[in-house]
Amino acid sequence: MGEVVLACEGLKKRYGDLWVLKGIDFEIERGQTKVIIGPSGSGKSTFLRLMGLLEPPTEGKIYFEGKDVYNSGLDLNMLRAKIGFVFQEPSLFRHLTALGNVKLGPKVVLKMKDDEAERKAMEALKTVKLEEWAHHYPAQLSGGQQQRVGIARALAMDPDIILFDEPTASLDIELTWEVIDVMKDLARRGVTMLVVTHELGFAKEVADEILFMDDGRIIESGPPEELLKNPKTPRAREFLRRLIGGV
Ligand SMILES: Nc1ncnc2c1ncn2[C@@H]1O[C@H](COP(=O)(O)OP(=O)(O)OP(=O)(O)O)[C@@H](O)[C@H]1O
Ligand SMILES: [Mg+2]
Repeated sequence: MGEVVLACEGLKKRYGDLWVLKGIDFEIERGQTKVIIGPSGSGKSTFLRLMGLLEPPTEGKIYFEGKDVYNSGLDLNMLRAKIGFVFQEPSLFRHLTALGNVKLGPKVVLKMKDDEAERKAMEALKTVKLEEWAHHYPAQLSGGQQQRVGIARALAMDPDIILFDEPTASLDIELTWEVIDVMKDLARRGVTMLVVTHELGFAKEVADEILFMDDGRIIESGPPEELLKNPKTPRAREFLRRLIGGV
């Protein structure tokens, strides 16, 4: 068994009267890739925000490398710097080049010297196959390239885990492929990844486990070949039928 990077127990989240997460137990080990699927509104993004320590839970515990995040007097900002986030939109600074965007975190958060941050950023841009685009501004990059800059920005921080929330949902199919290829590559390099995506090809090829979320709970989980071929719950069966059938 590898080291558990992130875990939660009995995780619940309420907004007003609405319980969005209704009790989730989860863990991910170093080097693993786990994929979350599920219908709109089931709580996938909320779960990711909580695991990324962007919001506290209403109930339950979150563990980062074995430490109870909200009950150990830990420095939350220090922990957050170890968790990368890639959202649907990369929200890059328009006035900075790809390199400028990627080196910002290492410089400002990790307090690296300029040349050191730049080396780190170039390395990350190389990993996402954008070294030749380092000096271009976001407006000069395709949506797929911008999203890869977003991934490089996360990588440059040397995070312990990267959380992805539908990173290709706003991209055309060909741009989706280039982003998915980079993500597969990261998974194979052993980057720990928790990914909300409905790109089942990605899940099939690299996920250690798929989690199916419905109505604030993980109601089914298993290795891709099992969950995709032979879903046990009617909800997962129906969801996958629609997803694959495109209706
Ligand atoms: N900050 C908030 N305040 C109030 N309600 C919220 C908040 N964030 C999420 N919700 C509600 O929580 C539920 C789950 O939302 P969430 O965005 O986590 O779902 P999701 O599974 O990511 O959906 P999608 O597939 O559409 O992205 C929704 O009903 C949403 O309206
Ligand atoms: Mg969402």
